[in-house]
Amino acid sequence: MANLRSCRFHLLFAFQFLLFVQTKVLCYQYKVGDLHAWGVPTSANPLVYAKWSKYNNLRIGDSLLFLYPPSQDSVIQVTESSYNSCNITDPILHMNNGNSLFNVTTNGDFYFTSGEPGYCAKKQKLHITVGNVSAYSPSSDPGALPASAPSYPTVFGPIPQPPSTSSSPLQLSFSVFLTAVIASTASAIFSGIM
Ligand SMILES: *[C@@H]1O[C@H](CO)[C@@H](O)[C@H](O)[C@H]1NC(C)=O
Ligand SMILES: *[C@@H]1O[C@H](CO)[C@@H](O)[C@H](O)[C@H]1NC(C)=O
Ligand SMILES: *[C@@H]1O[C@H](CO)[C@@H](O)[C@H](O)[C@H]1NC(C)=O
Repeated sequence: MANLRSCRFHLLFAFQFLLFVQTKVLCYQYKVGDLHAWGVPTSANPLVYAKWSKYNNLRIGDSLLFLYPPSQDSVIQVTESSYNSCNITDPILHMNNGNSLFNVTTNGDFYFTSGEPGYCAKKQKLHITVGNVSAYSPSSDPGALPASAPSYPTVFGPIPQPPSTSSSPLQLSFSVFLTAVIASTASAIFSGIM
């Protein structure tokens, strides 16, 4: 009886620990477009960025990683009206090193497109909403885009970071979960021995 109760207690503790770790530590780095580089969408998948933002809900502390050949492309953050009209003059932020990290520090809407003339009109544009997302699903899989996406012709310059960052949050939360389960099992066994 006492053992059962203490087991429950430890399970509860493990879950609280898990929640704590998830809220505290899990700031995700999202690679924009997942398998695709930041670039003009292919005709087979013209809505790649619209789909991508639909499947990924970012929060404060997260960041967006744009990977692209720096000699051929860039990322600019623009206003909503510039986004809609593809006005790329006078952007809010301009990034062109090929491995651009945008850090989300406030809630709100963020609009990005390419700094290259004409690319915005070809739907190389991304709109994300941070915070106040009604249909938030914590298990949203960053890799769960429709399988129809063909592999993008990736012509990269040097890439300082591995492109597989978008899968790490799931692995991380899984290993945290495992740790919590193991910890609770161990403490249940331990208190059983006592
Ligand atoms: C584009 O945006 C800039 C800066 O916001 C503005 O000065 C300019 O008039 C806009 N151009 C067009 C064609 O709307
Ligand atoms: C985002 O944070 C990273 C790491 O702290 C930094 O290297 C990068 O310059 C930041 N990005 C922007 C746009 O400030
Ligand atoms: C949050 O969403 C609700 C419902 O969609 C809306 O009424 C409210 O104005 C939003 N709040 C902010 C700060 O955007």
